[in-house]
Amino acid sequence: MGSLSKDDRAEVIQAWYMDDSDEDQRLPHHRNPKEFVSFEKLDELGVLSWRLDADKYETDPELKKIREARGYSYMDFCEVCPEKLPNYEEKIKNFYEEHLHTDEEIRYCVAGSGYFDVRDRDESWIRIWVKKGAMIVLPAGIYHRFTLDSNNYIKAMRLFVGDPVWTPYNRPHDHLPARQEYVEAFVKKAGADQAVDTAA
Ligand code: LAC
Ligand code: NI
Repeated sequence: MGSLSKDDRAEVIQAWYMDDSDEDQRLPHHRNPKEFVSFEKLDELGVLSWRLDADKYETDPELKKIREARGYSYMDFCEVCPEKLPNYEEKIKNFYEEHLHTDEEIRYCVAGSGYFDVRDRDESWIRIWVKKGAMIVLPAGIYHRFTLDSNNYIKAMRLFVGDPVWTPYNRPHDHLPARQEYVEAFVKKAGADQAVDTAA
């Protein structure tokens, strides 16, 4: 197998707009017809991603490079299943409450899979499916939530710059500086660019 690069991401990361049904959160919730979302669109929302070789995370030079470039000094693992996660039911419920953090949420899926849902600029939910080998960064201040999919298991590496702060601020927390900075950088700015495009 050749070296893995950004171009291989689609094999382990897929994103789409969600439907409005209240059915089981662990189902895919595609719209009909399906509306997939590009990596470019995720990039516009500040969501970054990589595809890495999850069988060698302990020695992977690609992971090392990303950690050094972005200052991800802290690392641990979070395994989401009833046997490994204390207060499983409560955590599962909390993960799916719409929230934001004052720092990036950095997750590298080394086994299993799951859905990170993020709000786009128009408040629609985009579902991001991550599988083994997918690493994603949700920017500080983006409203999001997490759920397992119907396979019911994920093992994720959690990274952080310095001492970790996992505090979720459930929506609404629009007055937080991290939220205001996110809106300035990724919501308003994009709106201004679009206005310029239309005028041109
Ligand atoms: C977190 C994810 C579940 O905050 O959003 O850990
Ligand atoms: Ni979160």
